[in-house]
Amino acid sequence: MKTSRRSFLRTSLALPALGSQSPAFQTHAHADSSFDPWIEIHADNLRHNVGEIHRRAESRPILAVIKNNGYGMGVVNVARLLEPSSAIAGFAVVKLHEAITLRDAGIRKPILLMGPFDERNLEEAVRRHIMPMVYTPIGSALDRVARKRQTPVAMHVCVDTGIGRVGVPHTQAASLIRDFAGRSSVRIQGTMMTFAEDPDFDKEQLKRFNALCGSLGQDGVKLGAKHAASSFALFQRPEAFLDMVRPGMAIYGIYSEHEFRSTRVMDLRPAISLKSRVAYVKQLRKGESAGYNRAYVAKGDVWVATLPVGHADGWPRAAAKGARVRIGEGMYPVIASVSASHSILEIGSEPRVQIGDVATMFDWRDGSRPEDVSAACGASVYDLTMHLNPLLPRRIISG
Ligand SMILES: Cc1ncc(COP(=O)(O)O)c(C=O)c1O
Repeated sequence: MKTSRRSFLRTSLALPALGSQSPAFQTHAHADSSFDPWIEIHADNLRHNVGEIHRRAESRPILAVIKNNGYGMGVVNVARLLEPSSAIAGFAVVKLHEAITLRDAGIRKPILLMGPFDERNLEEAVRRHIMPMVYTPIGSALDRVARKRQTPVAMHVCVDTGIGRVGVPHTQAASLIRDFAGRSSVRIQGTMMTFAEDPDFDKEQLKRFNALCGSLGQDGVKLGAKHAASSFALFQRPEAFLDMVRPGMAIYGIYSEHEFRSTRVMDLRPAISLKSRVAYVKQLRKGESAGYNRAYVAKGDVWVATLPVGHADGWPRAAAKGARVRIGEGMYPVIASVSASHSILEIGSEPRVQIGDVATMFDWRDGSRPEDVSAACGASVYDLTMHLNPLLPRRIISG
């Protein structure tokens, strides 16, 4: 017997707990229950954001950063939705397994692996047409892999102009890049850097990068596409758009800094939401408490609602410090503390919500955007999306 999520919900509403006899349990042993939190991906918003970035970057190609499970949306979901766009030149991830997953899923556009690898990984990556990001003297490994594969290794060189994370230090970059450029085993497809996102220091970083690229270029060294601009630089630094832009968060429709929202530089529309259903509604009498350590004590008689979503799902603990969740048209504060699998909302003096109502932790509506949650409770918008449990169901919606 096939049971839709809706009909399962209707059946289960009458039950205080879901028994193993429920039809859904029998037919979908591994399916999520109707009450499990889920993630919605708004395909039209994703495409809209790509259009906005393309306009802002004056039609430069976009290398879409889809690392960390596509910023929570599912790395394959995002790549499949973005791949048809002519503005998208390719994808960047940090983990080899994500790059391989993309190829296994049939993604054909260029993939840049921005994370570490060993020689065995390099061979695997090259075999799957995944470009490594290189910044150490691995010329002889590149030679060996190219010889074995009978094809030069396409790669991007990463230069550290001051972020101090990965990349060859800009003062030593010229000799490394010349070494790569001199090898027939290598095709430098791109040269890149990452800003520290400190407005003054970013200028200095760009100066260093331009000086390096300028002098190598004068000597005829082919650097491929030069790229540096993440979402931050898309808002702040048009002179850093170079040959290609490399945003992540802006693609997902989220302003990475609160002040960018009012600039109107780009109209970004959140493409991701986190939802759940109210699992339980009850009244607390004055003096009764909710949450571990009695984190909340009712000042008067009050209705509260329990959501089956917690920090193990990616809904941050910080949400209890001011985030509000939308149910119907009401916004209700998260109280007590967010535990691994539960959150509690204060509903007020009347029981305005019911078991089974959809609760929106964040979505694309003003007041419920990830930026609104972030502003209310201090959780970073990056944490809100990237920490979403990869096992939660993802549903792609359009319109
Ligand atoms: C090297 C690199 N480039 C680009 C990005 C995209 O950054 P954002 O999501 O802020 O646009 C990231 C993400 O942190 C990154 O690590």
